[in-house]
Amino acid sequence: MYLRDNWYVAALTSELGARPLSRQILGEHVAIFRSESGRVMVLADQCPHRGYPLSLGTVVGELLVCGYHGFTFDSSGTCVAVPGQDRIPSRADVRSYAVVEQGILVWIWMGRGEADPTKLPDTPWLADTEHWSTVSGVAKISASFDLLVDNLLDLSHETFLHNGSIGTPEVATTPIEVEVDEENHVVRVFRHMNAVECPPFYARTTGLHGKIDRWQDIDYTPPGHYLLHARIAPVSQPPLPDGTDDHAFHMKIFYGLTPSSEGKVYDFWALARDFCMGDDEIDRFLEKMQTGVVQEDVDALNILQSRTDERREVSEVSVKIDRGGLAARRMLASMTDAQSTS
Ligand code: FES
Ligand SMILES: [Fe+2]
Repeated sequence: MYLRDNWYVAALTSELGARPLSRQILGEHVAIFRSESGRVMVLADQCPHRGYPLSLGTVVGELLVCGYHGFTFDSSGTCVAVPGQDRIPSRADVRSYAVVEQGILVWIWMGRGEADPTKLPDTPWLADTEHWSTVSGVAKISASFDLLVDNLLDLSHETFLHNGSIGTPEVATTPIEVEVDEENHVVRVFRHMNAVECPPFYARTTGLHGKIDRWQDIDYTPPGHYLLHARIAPVSQPPLPDGTDDHAFHMKIFYGLTPSSEGKVYDFWALARDFCMGDDEIDRFLEKMQTGVVQEDVDALNILQSRTDERREVSEVSVKIDRGGLAARRMLASMTDAQSTS
């Protein structure tokens, strides 16, 4: 069951061009497009006339014109024109979705009722180009949403799956702390590695070599919003008592987890850094590295899903490193229960 009453990332703004974008989100086909005035709109991707995908249509001003016979829709999904007649059938409207463009992300509300603005994740750094340089991308994975949650909540896999880029032995050997914030619906996982090897991902970008302090602090706000705060610093130089941390390098590694259909999930990512600002070469380096890291996850999860599909019974042996993932599962399960009883 999908957790509908939530905001999910529908697209990166960089994906929106002259043509509408077709996506399947929580099982529903949608057409995402930017009108000529610059507004992002989302309509159900099926023309009520003969079912042609509206994503194959054309944007004309503030309207979307079906690419088959020209039924025309406004931002509310109301059919405002049909060819060859003045009268517009009352059943010719399509569903429109509430969307919010925030920095480089387009969020969509997948609930049936009014969109709840209080639930919209806040990612101000993705719009703050003065203090953060960002690279981003998206991958589609043929695996269940739950497998992606598991993957992101347990970063010990970096040591093995991402060896050579971000994985070092200490990621797997350093114990984690897990905090469940029931009130704000956040699962937090902390891993503070001190005086550890600097992986190539950070050596090239920060200029630090040899031993470093490396912190990974995860905030997972189910279902679709994951943020990893990475702190890279010279050894034994923690933030100052007043919180100032200018001697460290910081990254905010965002993931938007958006179920597509059963056994398919979109993995949006955005990597923001507060150093080497505006450096194109570092942008390209990080983009390439992160694309490779995400592809390693995609490959692993695709394999895991196909093996899971073959098995009649799935047994798991959970250990200490899984505490974050298990806490996330419990929170998702209680949200699912709450939705089914509401
Ligand atoms: S299918 Fe869209 S106008 Fe005919
Ligand atoms: Fe990974």
